[in-house]
Amino acid sequence: MSTQITAPAALDLTWVRSQFPSLSQMVNGQPAVFFDGPGGTQVPQCVVDAISDYLKQNNANTGGAYATSRHTDAMIAGARSAMADFLGCDPDEIVFGPNMTSLTYAMSRAIGRELGPGDEIVLTHLDHDANVSPWRALEERGVRIRMVDIHEDDCTLDMDDLARKITPRTKIVAVGYASNAVGTINDVKKIVSLAHQHGAVAYIDAVHYAPHRPIDVRSLDCDFLVCSTYKFFGPHMGVLFGKRAHLQRLEPYKVRANTNAIPNRWEWGTLNHECIAGITACVDYLSDLGRRANPAVTGRRAALLAAYETIQQHERGLFETLIRGLREIPGLKIYGITEPEGFDRRCPTLAVRIKGHTPLLLASRLGDHGFFTWDGNYYALNLTERLDVEKDGGFLRIGLAHYNTAEEVTRFLEALKKTADKPSGR
Ligand SMILES: Cc1ncc(COP(=O)(O)O)c(C=O)c1O
Repeated sequence: MSTQITAPAALDLTWVRSQFPSLSQMVNGQPAVFFDGPGGTQVPQCVVDAISDYLKQNNANTGGAYATSRHTDAMIAGARSAMADFLGCDPDEIVFGPNMTSLTYAMSRAIGRELGPGDEIVLTHLDHDANVSPWRALEERGVRIRMVDIHEDDCTLDMDDLARKITPRTKIVAVGYASNAVGTINDVKKIVSLAHQHGAVAYIDAVHYAPHRPIDVRSLDCDFLVCSTYKFFGPHMGVLFGKRAHLQRLEPYKVRANTNAIPNRWEWGTLNHECIAGITACVDYLSDLGRRANPAVTGRRAALLAAYETIQQHERGLFETLIRGLREIPGLKIYGITEPEGFDRRCPTLAVRIKGHTPLLLASRLGDHGFFTWDGNYYALNLTERLDVEKDGGFLRIGLAHYNTAEEVTRFLEALKKTADKPSGR
């Protein structure tokens, strides 16, 4: 019997773009083009509505014996279920916090209580500093940090170096799922397995991966995984998954009034309730997208998986056009995977430099014409230092998201060519 492979339905881009009010903005008479997704994506109207409806109707603290407080408790429980569907875990394994960096500092301090001289933590040069500095802070306890190197030619992780550096002394392996600078996707399943073979805990930064591909923490078997909802069409918040046994056993620094039950023992003070309301809305936006792509799916998790299939297909088409066009620009260097056979191992996030122009100058000129890109290191400082581009202004980053169009990519390539042809003085 032959297995029939069906391609995912094409993304309904008209519907997608109609959901995002900010996409219709103009800059200096030109339509705004949002290629700044890796720094934070735009939000659909349903997220805006959920945040403002919460503030209008249910604004209260938790645990009170009255209507709005009870609604707030129910709303937070709903958001936990939404994120559990998003990551493939149980709701009590979901911890909310202000952002990924704060959650990682909190967790590194708690884990660090048990570490001391002789213990090692394995980190990588590919990682955002939010998954480096919180662990480096444990050097004050005598912990040794070991940095895994990259292959300079395509900015992929050196897996042999990683395997060498994970030893019985390793207590934590903290690694990104995808690079926010050069787009490389790491083989996280393999890294988790290597960490576990030596009894180490695997802490995964999925911030950059989350808007592009689906996450399944059970299949990865990671101990912790963090992401930020503002990178996948939601509000400015961070979310941490922790295996239940870890969340129960580790000792958080917390106030006495926090109960010892999970996840409450990891969520201190009053959370940003209006943004938590927005989190459910952004997960539901994605599942609506999945149901449009495949009306046969049942259940939110299945709908999310369908959404990512169509997102991935759309982004791949845009990315191929972009990279083809970039290669024709004289003096332009792309950092990261550039060969089509490797495209499955990267996100549509490109770091480039153009001879004779600083990334800041390029981003400013493009910005004047409505093209939103980033320049610098975007906190992937370990990588810009390793590649020796930090002193020269880092990279120009072009980040595609599923709401971008082929026409935007074509116009961008024309604008970048013109910018590159201009003298470097502003
Ligand atoms: C890969 C990656 N990790 C971590 C972070 C930090 O996230 P947050 O702003 O939620 O602290 C970012 C933010 O840009 C990121 O891109």
